[in-house]
Amino acid sequence: MRVGATGTASAVGHSSCSMATRDTRTGDLVGPSSARTGADEQSGAALGRHLNSLAELRDAVNACRRCSLWRNATQGVPGEGTEHAEMMFIGEQPGDAEDLAGHPFVGPAGAILDHALIDAGIDRRKVFVTNAVKHFKFEPRGRRRLHAKPNATEIEACRWWLTEELKFVTPKVIVALGATAARSVLGHTVTISALRGLPTPFTSETHVWVTVHPSYLLRIPDDAQRRAEYARFVSDLKGAKEWIARGAPR
Ligand code: URA
Repeated sequence: MRVGATGTASAVGHSSCSMATRDTRTGDLVGPSSARTGADEQSGAALGRHLNSLAELRDAVNACRRCSLWRNATQGVPGEGTEHAEMMFIGEQPGDAEDLAGHPFVGPAGAILDHALIDAGIDRRKVFVTNAVKHFKFEPRGRRRLHAKPNATEIEACRWWLTEELKFVTPKVIVALGATAARSVLGHTVTISALRGLPTPFTSETHVWVTVHPSYLLRIPDDAQRRAEYARFVSDLKGAKEWIARGAPR
């Protein structure tokens, strides 16, 4: 399998920077606009109300005002997949493609993840896929929107959503894709190499497996090294799956 050779996961040019969309909550036209005010920031229905289902969470994420990332994003991107999945995959944040589509991991990094899941014998339809941060953070460069890393405050603000998703899914294994996901789940900064490939206890029902983010693979320029790292990534996913099959504690 050829892992993509160029570009980064979310530094893909597009022509929709000024696109407006309709807010599903209010019916208002909204979009990446500096016209949105600080007052709006306080009005989110999702500032901490109790959620009864993943379906409710899906709608509420788009109304989130827990940090300011919603202002420039097209929409909030909630997790999706099987409700009681045994495996939950957590990425960093939606990229350009995900921001426009409203679904997680549908862009270049998603293509790598999809290949790796197939190579690891994991059916994406049977897992739950989400992100640590639900709105796309970017820096405009002409017509392009370049991925910008979420900061600690943004990760912390968005952890509320992740905790809710975890409450509904209660997976046996959380696969943290990269440092931001691992930090969000575990609540502190982690070194991927220290935890990689081993089950880290999380709750009595759930363990965390830390691995790299698929967009890391996209950024490796050397073909041989990229293939080797991809194989290691697949092996991490397989390890988590086989650990569940061997009877991971639930
Ligand atoms: N990168 C992520 O971390 N998540 C996505 O959904 C897409 C790219």
